[in-house]
Amino acid sequence: MRRVFIFLAVVGVVSAQGVTIRIAGPSTAVGGIGYWVKQKAEAWAQMTGNRIEYIDTPAQTDQRLALFQQYWAAQSPDVDIYTIDVIWPGIVAPHALDLKPYFSEQDLQQFFPAIIQNNTVNGKLVAIPFYTDAGLLYYRTDLLEKYGYDHPPETWDELEEMARKIQQAERAAGHEDFWGFVWQGKRYEGLTCDALEWLVSHGGGTIVEPDGRISINNPQAIAALERARSWIGTISPPGVTAYAEEEARNVFQNGNALFMRNWPYAYALCNSEESPIRGKFAVTVLPRADTPEGRHAATLGGWQLMVSRYSQHPEEAVELVRYLTSYEVQKERTLKLSLLPTRPALYEDPEVLTVRPWFQSVLPVLQNAVARPSTVTGALYNRVSEAFYSSVHEVLTGQKTAAQAVQEIERKLQRILRRR
Ligand code: GLC
Repeated sequence: MRRVFIFLAVVGVVSAQGVTIRIAGPSTAVGGIGYWVKQKAEAWAQMTGNRIEYIDTPAQTDQRLALFQQYWAAQSPDVDIYTIDVIWPGIVAPHALDLKPYFSEQDLQQFFPAIIQNNTVNGKLVAIPFYTDAGLLYYRTDLLEKYGYDHPPETWDELEEMARKIQQAERAAGHEDFWGFVWQGKRYEGLTCDALEWLVSHGGGTIVEPDGRISINNPQAIAALERARSWIGTISPPGVTAYAEEEARNVFQNGNALFMRNWPYAYALCNSEESPIRGKFAVTVLPRADTPEGRHAATLGGWQLMVSRYSQHPEEAVELVRYLTSYEVQKERTLKLSLLPTRPALYEDPEVLTVRPWFQSVLPVLQNAVARPSTVTGALYNRVSEAFYSSVHEVLTGQKTAAQAVQEIERKLQRILRRR
């Protein structure tokens, strides 16, 4: 009896050594990423004798932030690790554990320097880059070939022409639901990403410039927004003003669109065994305006892992972050999912390139990606973006002209940023 008791006591001590780490990870509803993170976190827990609780979060970034802000307002220890958007460092900084003391210079040098810099707020490293994102143009290689085009569109004019022509011909051939171009036109953060690409590709600035100047009210920005407005109901479905990433992907993946603007995650899904367009599409840089100021532009996106300042197990939480962002684990991820790694070396890894040969062509797009004005607006970024996408949405739905909208955005931003 006594022996049994001692045995149980020992077992008890052993299991009591582990701690429970709660990770608020990506949504398990989208593209396999949530499940994958959960599985890897559980694998880490097994290896280290700890436990994991996975907290599922809304798919949409704005909704995820709203949820996290409730934990932060309460200084809650209930979540140890948060997955945070590349635009949030200024918002989350007060609630983040400074990761500088835990990672050596050498460790950090292995990540894209621009993202490490993005994640550093007043000298504090608020999060480690987990995966990165850049807006891409997906196009149907089979259809371009069928209609005699030997390259994807270089300019928006070309995209419009190809879209009109192929949409008309496909519909005439009985494919009634076919559209030229799908993208993210819903009233949310994703619209800020798409609209920033329209602006920059027309030489219309980045809404608020890195020096703080509010630049949205300019003729190129007006031209860019007018152009996007002209797509609705012509080459893009009227419903696109309610599309987020997944709605666009569904249309494209089902074979009902020629072009799609989306992030890299969509690649692996569109190319999965059960996808009707498997092997029939490719990705390239988004088009530019055919003007002297025009340039190719991709919005920079991506997600980071942050340890809460209110965590009761910071050491273990940091170890899990280190593991999830490691070379090996990111490499394993690229074999399953098409999320972009945050370590440049992985873009040269032969095994990665065998599975994802297109990573090589995406690298320059990523290196030239345009950041949303989140560093310069810091904790106010969310309000800035909401002011922008709300007015842009009104242009798309025909409630305002582009000229009215840019004036309105300018006024709203002056108010929001007044007390910086
Ligand atoms: C992607 C990007 C993120 C962006 C979001 C918008 O998740 O990685 O940065 O804010 O899309 O929908």
